[in-house]
Amino acid sequence: MRIAIFGSGYVGLVTGACLADGGHHVTCIDVDRTRVDMLRSGGCPIWEPGLEDMIRANTAQGRLNFTDDAAEGLRDARVAFIAVGTPQSPDGSADLTYVDAVARDIGRLTENRLLIANKSTVPVGTAARVQDIVDDALSHRENRPTITVCSNPEFLKEGAAIQDFKHSERIVIGTSCPEDEQTMRDVYKPLNWQHEKILAMDVPSAELTKYAANAMLATKISFMNEIATIAEATGADVEKIRVGIGSDSRIGYPFLYAGAGYGGSCFPKDVAALAHTARTTGCQPRILDAVDAVNVTQKASLFRKLARAVPSLEGATVAVWGLAFKPKTDDVREAPSLDLVRSLIEAGANVRAYDPVAMETFRAALGRQADRVVFTGGNLDALTGADALAICTEWEEFRMFDPDRLASRMRGRVIVDGRNLYDPSRVAEGGFHYISVGRRE
Ligand code: NAD
Ligand code: UGA
Repeated sequence: MRIAIFGSGYVGLVTGACLADGGHHVTCIDVDRTRVDMLRSGGCPIWEPGLEDMIRANTAQGRLNFTDDAAEGLRDARVAFIAVGTPQSPDGSADLTYVDAVARDIGRLTENRLLIANKSTVPVGTAARVQDIVDDALSHRENRPTITVCSNPEFLKEGAAIQDFKHSERIVIGTSCPEDEQTMRDVYKPLNWQHEKILAMDVPSAELTKYAANAMLATKISFMNEIATIAEATGADVEKIRVGIGSDSRIGYPFLYAGAGYGGSCFPKDVAALAHTARTTGCQPRILDAVDAVNVTQKASLFRKLARAVPSLEGATVAVWGLAFKPKTDDVREAPSLDLVRSLIEAGANVRAYDPVAMETFRAALGRQADRVVFTGGNLDALTGADALAICTEWEEFRMFDPDRLASRMRGRVIVDGRNLYDPSRVAEGGFHYISVGRRE
């Protein structure tokens, strides 16, 4: 099948590469010419394990192409995915500017029968909105091919995106049209094996399922961060509590890690967008508001802990390990490290930062403030002369605690760990003041 995908970001590229790998002929369309050129020349604009190789292999086989020309991308396509960003608007709602622009392009340029599958995370009613925009564009044309819209939310995680896409636990398809459902079944045929993964439902339920899933996961995390705060105040250990409650199969282990607060391009904006939907429909998003409030406090906690342990941050040197919002990605959107580094710069501290892959994206996100940060070539280098070390991301290379190596580089003996990487008693034995999350100092 010929498939067009609008948006060559984390979701569009993974979807494109995996569907091409499954034998479809895919064209990825993006308005960013630099991005398209890079992809055409064998590069990959994002760091996602296995993605660059998969893109190269499928491009070489002629199954995967890239263009900034929407008409070319849509030629002979049977399905067009929308996988463009839906960032947070100032009022918390999802900004649908990019989705609307794609809908207009599709309505203007499509020549044949087309099914639009909306993969961007969008509020209930967006499939109908896209259909209206398409129909309006078609009404100004002589050739009016049949174009319909379905919802197909995406559940992949960055850092494990290919695995999640290829071996997803479910494929949600929202449509009330049997022909469109069958077309989507054909799209997913290469991935829908071993057992039935497709969950077909009505459009509003599919759209809301995506927000409900992210909001539930964010709720688990904020809940554990609140328990961590209570554990700190009472002398309990959140890691023991995590195992203690995760072993109850009704609760389960995943997404119970207290930490530096959730970041990324999705949980923060999706919790806000769902709360906005609730408010505008007369519902009170009490849990969602609390989930967000706990997260804001948690993201500020690393700086608060540092300021307590290093009384004069002005002129002090702080090493920051981990800039990405989670390991195995270069994505720094809403990363806890951004809040921490901005606060450290405001407090007059010298920051020496290191991340295995996210230093360039972090530099770009910080903008002019990046001049105030020294980016180092390795994790040990970041420690040179540091009064304290702050850990924001649980990359594997940070997991081994070696007090001698740390002490030989650092001036001070403070570690603020937002990811609970080390055994507190071992760190204390090594002569460090160790402040982690939800555990005794
Ligand atoms: P992204 O910012 O990485 O990529 C979006 C891409 O769309 C950019 O390359 C941009 O240039 C392009 N674009 C913008 N307007 C366009 C247009 N009119 N035509 C063609 N291309 C256009 O975004 P992302 O992280 O891939 O997220 C996309 C959507 O998927 C969002 O709604 C997000 O909430 C959702 N989602 C993301 C993830 C994730 O892990 N990142 C997972 C599931 C769902
Ligand atoms: C999340 C969801 O897990 C995906 O299912 C969803 O498709 C995606 O959002 C999306 O809609 O974009 P992602 O943001 O890539 O995926 O990464 P996660 O692994 O969920 O981590 C999100 C944040 O939560 C990270 O900052 C991570 O450190 C934090 N987290 C995660 C915790 O603090 N504790 C945990 O136990 C798990």
